[in-house]
Amino acid sequence: MTATTTSTEWWRTAVIYQIYPRSFADSSGDGIGDLAGITSRLEHLAALGVDAIWLSPFYRSPQKDAGYDVADFTDVDPLFGTLADFDAMLERAHSLGLRVIVDIVPNHTSSEHAWFQAALASAPGSIERARYIFRDGRGPDGAEPPNNWESVFGGPAWTRVTEPEGTPGQWYLHLFDSSQPDVDWSNEEVRLEFDRVLRFWLDRGVDGFRVDVAHGLAKHPDLPDFVIDEMIDSMGAAQMGHPAWAQEGVHEIWRRWRAVVDEYDGERILTAEAWVEPLSRMAAWVRPDEMHQAFNFPYLMTLWDASAVKSVIDESLGAFASVGAPATWVLSNHDVVRHPSRLALTAPNPQGVGIGPDSPGLPDPAVARARGRAATLLMLALPGSAYMFQGEELGLPEVLDIPADRRQDPTFARTQGERYGRDGCRVPIPWEADAPAFGFSPSGQAWLPQPAEWAPIARDRQLADPESTLTMYAHALRLRRERRLGSAELTWLDTPDGVLGFTVGDVTVIANVDGPETPVPDGIVLAASRPVAGSIPQDTCVWIAR
Ligand code: NOJ
Repeated sequence: MTATTTSTEWWRTAVIYQIYPRSFADSSGDGIGDLAGITSRLEHLAALGVDAIWLSPFYRSPQKDAGYDVADFTDVDPLFGTLADFDAMLERAHSLGLRVIVDIVPNHTSSEHAWFQAALASAPGSIERARYIFRDGRGPDGAEPPNNWESVFGGPAWTRVTEPEGTPGQWYLHLFDSSQPDVDWSNEEVRLEFDRVLRFWLDRGVDGFRVDVAHGLAKHPDLPDFVIDEMIDSMGAAQMGHPAWAQEGVHEIWRRWRAVVDEYDGERILTAEAWVEPLSRMAAWVRPDEMHQAFNFPYLMTLWDASAVKSVIDESLGAFASVGAPATWVLSNHDVVRHPSRLALTAPNPQGVGIGPDSPGLPDPAVARARGRAATLLMLALPGSAYMFQGEELGLPEVLDIPADRRQDPTFARTQGERYGRDGCRVPIPWEADAPAFGFSPSGQAWLPQPAEWAPIARDRQLADPESTLTMYAHALRLRRERRLGSAELTWLDTPDGVLGFTVGDVTVIANVDGPETPVPDGIVLAASRPVAGSIPQDTCVWIAR
């Protein structure tokens, strides 16, 4: 199938910047970022040169999973401000030419959502329970969970409730934390409620949604045991064949949602967070009547190995094009080890495990810096749409030294500290080297501690430095836009093993991943690190303009 691209299809080539609200900018001084803080800093993102922002959840929530446990889908949590603050943020973004995508979390609610509270207070078999996945337990007293599924965050995916009259009762399913009960998408009431939620935000003017757990909503109707050995990895990706994940029934939901967003003008979009492999299978999420984009997690998970990187690029371009969707690219987000650190690890690190001071194969900081910059330049040259995670433009590494009593990712507690989890990429970002909390918060507080070594990489220190990572991102984004790399054709060049070379539009890109010193032609317009005597060593990428 060929894509019919019109110049108004902004999302086909957009660079979308992820804001993690609690860690971006705090205006109130409570140490947690908020919407007014975002509004006050948006001009910097416009200056950086991104096209759109995506905000992780800011809805009412007890914050058991940093807001991915939503208690009210159509209100702002007081931690982040008010609906009026949201409107002001949206208006400011639009006035700066930035589109705004918000997160929607349809697989589960918070256990504090009114629906779940009503379910707990109601009898088995009631309409209140039918919005969730309640089942009787197995074994003589129903004391065993209904099946053997495990939570992505560790431990069983079922929790037993105490019935209103005080006796041990049914179990409810939660693919994530026990504070995040899964809703039952075979129930039309659930579908109608989410139609309402979509319309609520579309009516306010958002440009689209990043759809959380887009591979998880439809479960096998019989909820059978999972019988393959490999139980838990990443956000479900390694569980293909698991009756909870990537079931055919999700596609009907996305077709329904596509019809809703298409009712609105202005090209509102849906982006799937679907940990589905291989890419040819993930392409089903972005068929013309489903979502517009899906995050390219196979690309994100690829190690720093030239042939693997080349293969995943080819596979991505082919798979997405086969359904007329743009390829997407992403290296970092709030769930993964930040890419400079991740690409420099020397020991395996399964997704979701995270890294801390005792992890094996910790990255060498110099290698991490070089590799992170090279990987970024490679990614930003690729045709399609790219996602960035706040702070990557500063070259932030993963934070290792977070004291156990400050860690907040439920993964850490649910695995008794065996997995560090995702806090290391979520540390509030540094704006000004000499300000309290590096300018993140006027009070100097930060919900996760910021490393003192971040002063030299604070944004204000990098702004005027031509060699800084911030400057490199700004130049790359400007050239990407001016030379229309997002809609250009990619053609591979013959290069030595370990080195990738391609042309994209009128730009030639050479990335020395793990190859020999490689001579590069004149005409470099951008370099992750400068060539020495006309050659680039490993962990370098250059753009050359014809
Ligand atoms: C994916 C989100 O990105 C992650 O942060 C969250 O914990 C899970 N979905 C559950 O909502």
